[in-house]
Amino acid sequence: SAKGVILVGGGSKGTRFRPLSFDLPKPLIPIAGKPMILHHLEHLAQVPGLDEVILLGFYDEHMFSDFVANTSKHLGITVRYLREAAALGTAGGIWRYRDAIQSGSPEALFILHCDVASSFPLNDMLAFHRQHGKPLTVLAKTVPPSGDARAYGCMVKHSETYELLHYVEKPETWVSNLINCGIYVAETNSFYALLDKTCSERSRWSVIDSSGNLSSTNLGESDCSHIRLEQDIIMQYEGRKTVYVYEHDDFWCQIKEPAAALLASKLYLEHYAKSQPNILADYAYRPEVLVPRLYSSTSDDFGRGSVTMGSATPTFVGPVFVHSTARIAAGAKIGPNVSIGAGCVVGTGARLFHCIVLEDCVIREHALVANSIIGWSSVIGPWARVEGDGVERERRQISVLGSHVECEGGVVVRNSIVLPHKTLTTSASERIIL
Ligand code: GDD
Ligand code: GTP
Repeated sequence: SAKGVILVGGGSKGTRFRPLSFDLPKPLIPIAGKPMILHHLEHLAQVPGLDEVILLGFYDEHMFSDFVANTSKHLGITVRYLREAAALGTAGGIWRYRDAIQSGSPEALFILHCDVASSFPLNDMLAFHRQHGKPLTVLAKTVPPSGDARAYGCMVKHSETYELLHYVEKPETWVSNLINCGIYVAETNSFYALLDKTCSERSRWSVIDSSGNLSSTNLGESDCSHIRLEQDIIMQYEGRKTVYVYEHDDFWCQIKEPAAALLASKLYLEHYAKSQPNILADYAYRPEVLVPRLYSSTSDDFGRGSVTMGSATPTFVGPVFVHSTARIAAGAKIGPNVSIGAGCVVGTGARLFHCIVLEDCVIREHALVANSIIGWSSVIGPWARVEGDGVERERRQISVLGSHVECEGGVVVRNSIVLPHKTLTTSASERIIL
């Protein structure tokens, strides 16, 4: 059997996701139409014998209660949230909540960072782990020279045994292009043995440090509360036949800020369009699925009655996500890389590309939204433009509107952040609108 742990972090993080993280914790921000960590959970649920996933973080419990209830039901596995009183580090919570995690005696433990997008090759990884990688296997990817490997954990592995020979967390000088993807599988019991060893050594040492006397008194649990999986465990075991590296070549990216969320959305849309086009019956990734749900009306409840009836359809470019309750007017052009949330209305002549439009927004006729994230219940007026330079590394600039922002007709917003509940009556460029 197997279990999953997703490290969701806490409120002190996610500041780069303001203003969206005012309304929702970062791990639940929709990427390609689904909460960031629902992608993780859906992949975990595909692992044979995996029946429980624990979300570990230091957010208030209530922020995850609906999500936990809904996903448990939807995926048919148990999803729980366990709260750390303070940040315990990437392995501290796993140590602290060992009873919950070890209950049911799972043989394998998947540990996933919340802020990564990936094809999550978990079954392949598990097969590798059983054959070569016990007690701990790390998922790794080779990044191109332009990929700034030094922003990650950098590794050197043995070319035949796949053993981890060297590991440096965010090195100052170049170490290797093989980076830690923040996705692990551990053999549960031997992994806890490593944690216990680290803790007991640490307790002894801190007695020597503080008193100057040699004493073997165990200082107890409090000293082991903060444990970093990278520096405190993985780095201590390089070259000791304990940590192994599973390298893969599929898509992977980190999601630290909103521009990265757009990039992750694009990668997921392309991935799902290929791998599982019918992933959720309720969701639509392909234009043809959308046709029966098109907005069509003779009434004038949005726009100026310019919505056409009959067979005319919007134009879709590439895989896009449009929630089944969103209404898209004929004459709108959507894609590539667009996610439109539940209850949204998009008027005729509107042009959307490289954007995430969260629930209940209205994009009026002939508006343009590009390289942007539009917060919940916002309204983009007719002929308005909300745009950014793009998500590529060279020029990574997007616009982000908080919830309930109203952008009046004709206004142009470029490379700007707009806080919730603002009404924009004039154009803005490269600004933070408070
Ligand atoms: N529960 C809990 N408690 N989660 C935490 C804590 C904590 O105290 N601290 C961090 N996390 C979670 C974050 O939410 C995130 O999902 C993950 O652990 C790692 O976050 P960071 O500690 O900010 O590290 P990082 O993302 O800069 O780098 C790590 O991930 C990279 C891959 O994305 C390192 O492991 C790198 O080596 C790695 O390349
Ligand atoms: P490509 O470069 O191949 O995409 O050519 P295209 O002419 O199809 O450009 P694009 O896909 O960007 O635009 C599609 C439609 O959106 C065209 O009919 C454009 O006139 C229209 N369009 C372009 N910019 C804007 C804009 O700022 N606002 C609105 N409402 N429509 C626009």
